[in-house]
Amino acid sequence: MFQTESKLIKKFPPYVFAKINAAKLAARQKGIDVIDLGMGNPDGGTPIPVVNKLIEVIQDKKSHGYSASKGIFSFLKAISRWYERKYQVQIDPKTEAVSVIGSKEGLAHLGLAIWNPGDQVLAPDPTYPIHHYSVVIANGKLISVSLGESPEKFLVNLYRISSKPGVNPKALIINFPHNPTTLCAEQNFFKDIVTWAKKRQVLVIHDFAYADITFDGFKAPSFLATPGAKDIGIEFFTLSKSYNMAGWRVGFAAGNAKVIASLAKLKSYMDYGIFTPIQVAAIAALDRPEVELTERAKIYEERRDIFYKGLMNINWPVPKPKGSMYIWAPIPSKYEKMSAVDFSMLLLEKSAVAVSPGTGFGKLGEGYIRFALVENKSRIRQALRNLKKIF
Ligand SMILES: Cc1ncc(COP(=O)(O)O)c(C=O)c1O
Repeated sequence: MFQTESKLIKKFPPYVFAKINAAKLAARQKGIDVIDLGMGNPDGGTPIPVVNKLIEVIQDKKSHGYSASKGIFSFLKAISRWYERKYQVQIDPKTEAVSVIGSKEGLAHLGLAIWNPGDQVLAPDPTYPIHHYSVVIANGKLISVSLGESPEKFLVNLYRISSKPGVNPKALIINFPHNPTTLCAEQNFFKDIVTWAKKRQVLVIHDFAYADITFDGFKAPSFLATPGAKDIGIEFFTLSKSYNMAGWRVGFAAGNAKVIASLAKLKSYMDYGIFTPIQVAAIAALDRPEVELTERAKIYEERRDIFYKGLMNINWPVPKPKGSMYIWAPIPSKYEKMSAVDFSMLLLEKSAVAVSPGTGFGKLGEGYIRFALVENKSRIRQALRNLKKIF
């Protein structure tokens, strides 16, 4: 038999979400109205001026050729403006920013550009899967750090693990507001991370996917706004969530020039850049007024309020998120013996609500499920009525 799988591909376990996705499809084929709170796929549309910009630019045949893998210079300049306007951070568009085909792609390739096989990398458990699999892809050694119930607990766990003999990490991957737990960090937390990282000479990679989706007046800090952060780290941002552009596949990384140069070099061998009309439309998005971002976050905040209160009313207490588009829910005590996957299957069968099992985000996600607030308010209310049936 000819070879069809590398050693690397064998390291990827079967996709935890596959079982739920298959069951969801089967239920829909039977005519069941499944309320899909599974994937973090925004249900809103891309802002109209951004769509119009794409339509305008695509009419020009000059935009149809290969683009620039690092990002066209006007996009890199827009990234620099975005950092200055929102976080008073100076980014040199020539050396400190690179476009990525969504932050998932950027994170997936980053490790290949900077780590050698066997290099140790720290990442929280649970977390968004690519934070773990970027290490697997680069043949590195993942060291999981229990996230705990607060960023402060995470710091304690980080200090403890990193001071163990033989632990000599090359990088730390973090993400606040955090997917899936919704934990949010303050700037002081990043200060402690920078101090630790400089002392240990560890690269910090911050995934800032939910920068704009915050509630109750909370504003998520940028890692790069921490003094000294650029010396030791980079930050990823995606247009997927803030601008409802998940399908467009556009984001960026910014920060330490040497790390950015490595990623840009690898990408220049791998891709020809994001389609130019998408990059130009992305500039239009990044330049949109702040108030539109607040309005978009408000939509998630209202859903959060309804869902949080509704779960409390059916005696299912959950932490109240300050950011992200999720609710991270412990499996109710009545079902605590069930695994996260089995409980997710039960919710689908008995309540017609699709969720993500916590174990899709790491071993320590066991005992939890994640609801994504990606259906409208009346569907969220319907989901609550359906969920009541299991109690
Ligand atoms: C923390 C986090 N990072 C990255 C991504 C993926 O972003 P992109 O669409 O830019 O690949 C997601 C998507 O859910 C996410 O939750």
